[in-house]
Amino acid sequence: MCCDICEKNPSFKQDGTYVIFPNVTNLSCRSEFKFFLDKITAVSKPGKKNLLVWGRYTWFSCPEGVLPLANTLHVILTKKLRSPPELADYICEDFDEAIRLASQPPLSDLIETIWVIGGTEVYREAMEHPWCDLIYLTDIMADFDCDVFFPDFDRNIYRKQSRFPGVPHEIQEENGIKFQFQVFKKMC
Ligand SMILES: NC(=O)c1ccc[n+]([C@@H]2O[C@H](COP(=O)([O-])OP(=O)(O)OC[C@H]3O[C@@H](n4cnc5c(N)ncnc54)[C@H](OP(=O)(O)O)[C@@H]3O)[C@@H](O)[C@H]2O)c1
Repeated sequence: MCCDICEKNPSFKQDGTYVIFPNVTNLSCRSEFKFFLDKITAVSKPGKKNLLVWGRYTWFSCPEGVLPLANTLHVILTKKLRSPPELADYICEDFDEAIRLASQPPLSDLIETIWVIGGTEVYREAMEHPWCDLIYLTDIMADFDCDVFFPDFDRNIYRKQSRFPGVPHEIQEENGIKFQFQVFKKMC
């Protein structure tokens, strides 16, 4: 299971919170957004699928034209919706129900990776789950007004990898915004 987020420069950290800035990277750093889409849609064998776990607000804030995505099934966490919205596949009332969905037939043989797309509470629960082993985090080296925050996580449990297969480690720049892909791996 992997969590994927964008993060502001930790030097702008306030009160132990990190900032998710909604969709800024979709607009300004298209290569960052492409990297995200490439990761969550990658499967090792034809026919396999990744399960994407979304909070309801994150699902409905997905930019137009992004969905549908190849090789993916989508589960929306919600206590309010009674059926999956258009282009989603499942709804679940809580995170554990989504994990049970992926781990039991008929999906258990089909799902390769569970990707957690956010928002805040979904990330928090995911990072505490025993199956979460990787956090993909993009350090965006710029400052934005934000109203949704990424939960802090224990960097002794999830350790930053200096290199990670398939992840460029150099600082990149697009439209004047510098960013760097990072991967944090859970230590056993
Ligand atoms: N840039 C990034 O990396 C990034 C990543 C993710 C999100 N975002 C942004 O963050 C914003 C949304 O994040 P958010 O934290 O405000 O909301 P969110 O988690 O996407 O959605 C909140 C809603 O999802 C449901 N939910 C969340 N956690 C749940 C749980 N554990 N169990 C059951 N239901 C759960 C509830 O829906 P009901 O009310 O229906 O029960 C809740 O009201 C959007 O603007 C999005 O674009 C940015």
